[in-house]
Amino acid sequence: MYLGIDLGTSSIKCLLIDDNQKTVATSSHDFTISTPKSGWAEQDPSFWINGLSKCLNVLNKNVDFKKILSISFSGQMHGATCLNQEGKIIRPSILWNDTRSFKECESMMDSNPDIMDITGNLAMPGFTAPKIAWMREHEPEAFKAIDKVLLPKDYLRFYLSNEFFTDMSDASGTYWLNVGERNWSKKLLDLCDLTEDNMPQLCEGTSQTGVVSKKIAETYGFDYACKIIGGAGDNAAGAIGLGLISEGEGSISLGTSGVIFTPTSKFKKNYHDATHSFCHCIPNTWHLMTVMLSCTSNINWFTETFKITLEDLFTHFEKKFQSKLDNCPFYLPYLTGERTPINDPFIRGSFTNIGLQTKLDDMSYSLIEGIAFGMFDNYLSLEKANQNLDTLYVIGGGSQNDKWLEMIATLIQKKLTITEDSSSMAAFGAARIALIGNNNSNLNEVISKPPIVKTISPNFDKYEILSKRFQLWKKIYETNKPLAPSLS
Ligand code: XUL
Repeated sequence: MYLGIDLGTSSIKCLLIDDNQKTVATSSHDFTISTPKSGWAEQDPSFWINGLSKCLNVLNKNVDFKKILSISFSGQMHGATCLNQEGKIIRPSILWNDTRSFKECESMMDSNPDIMDITGNLAMPGFTAPKIAWMREHEPEAFKAIDKVLLPKDYLRFYLSNEFFTDMSDASGTYWLNVGERNWSKKLLDLCDLTEDNMPQLCEGTSQTGVVSKKIAETYGFDYACKIIGGAGDNAAGAIGLGLISEGEGSISLGTSGVIFTPTSKFKKNYHDATHSFCHCIPNTWHLMTVMLSCTSNINWFTETFKITLEDLFTHFEKKFQSKLDNCPFYLPYLTGERTPINDPFIRGSFTNIGLQTKLDDMSYSLIEGIAFGMFDNYLSLEKANQNLDTLYVIGGGSQNDKWLEMIATLIQKKLTITEDSSSMAAFGAARIALIGNNNSNLNEVISKPPIVKTISPNFDKYEILSKRFQLWKKIYETNKPLAPSLS
């Protein structure tokens, strides 16, 4: 058996597969984010260890852990997880959706414009390097104590095996990697007063990085020889779960963040639109990716704040989607600022055009439409990098509502494909990486596509009205943009 550990932002999930890649068992544990200030997002890494430990203790009641040959990871990306020389956590991890380091990003790019070509990306506050530059300025004592900077999933690897490694896909999101050459960039590390000694070693996602430590083997019942395999950032892991390793294929992930992902056989870039250009987790392959910071988190915020169930929200949305959409409000889904395409840390969410006639079904509709517009805006940026996408798979918790998918399909004018198990693709991808790494498998033999459950086609009757509303929605952002910095 092979164990995939998916360290997400709101939960950790463990998934075991057998040699035929059939899921044998799963378990998960939820945790929360702390937001001490607007635009900040932190998590105590002890939550991750505690969650992992709970999941493993549930699984090992029914499964013989001695039969697990290898373990690998999928992880929320970018989080600055700083350890001192004793291997102790220095401060809570600053997460991928934290936008506090916008000034550090500007000064990095202004003083060294060539860094965008080395990394293939704009310096954005979500990335790890600007977060550490922020610590240097605002928490000098914590900065001085840094011995290693790890990414979230690599802290779990350290817990399980006492080794410091990260894979190329996750390393790409640090802003310290030369993404084209797949090695740490001295120039980028210098900008943060760090050296390679502060970094974990680099590996490809399918390479072995060690075995479980004796203590971990004895605590959970693993065999002493159980291997630890590199793993991937969550989007690359999801892509492996879906079998996306070639150009022309892509995925739309509707999770806490909204991501469009497509593999590339070369290092390509379009950083002007904040499209991400990263290494894939398999050798000699890269990927382009757009990231919408708040996707389904808008839905969680709305349902919790207005005390409405998810089911009711989508019922309201579907009812309204069938109407003419007269006088419907508009919603900007930027609860924590935005990356692609606007790279704006100041903008926040808003409803526009609310009148006395506005009801909950109008608000529900505009919320879901606003997120779909954000995804469409991301898609347009990816197209500018000349990515011709023939097949698009949808994964993540948001892949469950057909009408919403129909709206996205209508905007991008393409069919969307939904597969089995589309909501746990990253955990499955991690387990698949564990299998590949253990058996040294030929990728093309192991990476098949999951069975297709359905395809969703564009609704041509809605194209005109949605296009018109999208153009107005873009103008609402442009109008709000100059005001946003003075509001926060
Ligand atoms: C990718 C990104 C998000 C997180 C979410 O750049 O920031 O997708 O990885 O977990």
